[in-house]
Amino acid sequence: MKIAVLPGDGIGPEIVAQAVKVLNALNIGIEMEEAPIGGAGYEAAGDPLPEATLALAKSSDAVLLGAVGDWKYDKLERHLRPERGLLRIRKELNLFANLRPALLYPELASASTLKPEVVAGLDIMIVRELTGDIYFGQPRGISTLENGEREGINTMRYSESEIRRIAHVAFGIAMKRNKKVCSVDKANVLETTELWRQVMIEVAKEYPEVELSHMYVDNAAMQLIRAPKQFDVMVTGNIFGDILSDEASMLTGSIGMLPSASLDQNNKGMYEPSHGSAPDIAGKDIANPLATILSAAMMLRYSFNDEANATRIENAVKKALAEGYRTADIYTDGCRKVGCAAMGDAVVAA
Ligand code: NAI
Ligand code: MG
Repeated sequence: MKIAVLPGDGIGPEIVAQAVKVLNALNIGIEMEEAPIGGAGYEAAGDPLPEATLALAKSSDAVLLGAVGDWKYDKLERHLRPERGLLRIRKELNLFANLRPALLYPELASASTLKPEVVAGLDIMIVRELTGDIYFGQPRGISTLENGEREGINTMRYSESEIRRIAHVAFGIAMKRNKKVCSVDKANVLETTELWRQVMIEVAKEYPEVELSHMYVDNAAMQLIRAPKQFDVMVTGNIFGDILSDEASMLTGSIGMLPSASLDQNNKGMYEPSHGSAPDIAGKDIANPLATILSAAMMLRYSFNDEANATRIENAVKKALAEGYRTADIYTDGCRKVGCAAMGDAVVAA
């Protein structure tokens, strides 16, 4: 097992160091090599995705990423900005399946803006297609019509094979969970998603144990707030998934808790927290490392098929929370306030 470790910018190095500490504590022979990306890549090699970094990522079995970005790079040309490094590595590695769990830890129930009875026990997995849809479809652009008026165009587009492969990811995950998939579309008005629905129904035949349901995206947005626990696995296209996964993540209250995985066809993946580089708190040892530590757990589960050690990490996080350890973003009265490194230590000890 060889991992490319890309700490990136801002709090990236601090939070990634904690995940590395936890992986090392498992003592299961993971080989790790570090390389710069984002602003750190620009500083080291004049490129937010240096060639050596991309080569390392390609030759590794998985990538563990912190976050990229800092306000000080805002003046750079677009292709040199840190965020461009992230988009490029996702595209280069063909990471078409983005998995974003929204899981509420009982200890953090009061962190959600929704009533405790609505979110208690929440455990959803959103599977978002990441390399197709309206973000990539051609034609696109802004042009000027004959009458002098400007027109903007983006094209919603999915091929059958693109839908089929994300469907298999969703059904495969559902088989390991509660065997329920809700496919979200807008099949009543958008032909692209009418095809989406047809292919979902076809693929479902290969997973007879899984119950497939369909929901229009506007209703799904409503249901996520009204009764989020009705969902287990949700699968949807790039733009609907972008919006719904952000919505779902906030059901759990804290951005510092949310891991993610982005996978290719062979379950090679990149694992990163859902949040950004938080330059406002960088270098102060106060960032919450749990999203990154939980991303490392997802790496063991999806890239290395090591459910036992993935669960070991997740249980250690639960135990550290149960013991009262809290970073500033999730702190409530009566808990033990700790910094980033001490939270990492608490998970290792647990
Ligand atoms: P952000 O997620 O970095 O921060 C939003 C707020 O959440 C800040 O107040 C921050 O202090 C807090 N926060 C984030 N992670 C935290 C953690 N682990 N523990 C405690 N508090 C945490 O988003 P923002 O401020 O919009 O962007 C900052 C930079 O990050 C920008 O350069 C942006 O482009 C970049 N970014 C990078 C992403 C990535 O690498 N995947 C994703 C989102 C933003
Ligand atoms: Mg988004």
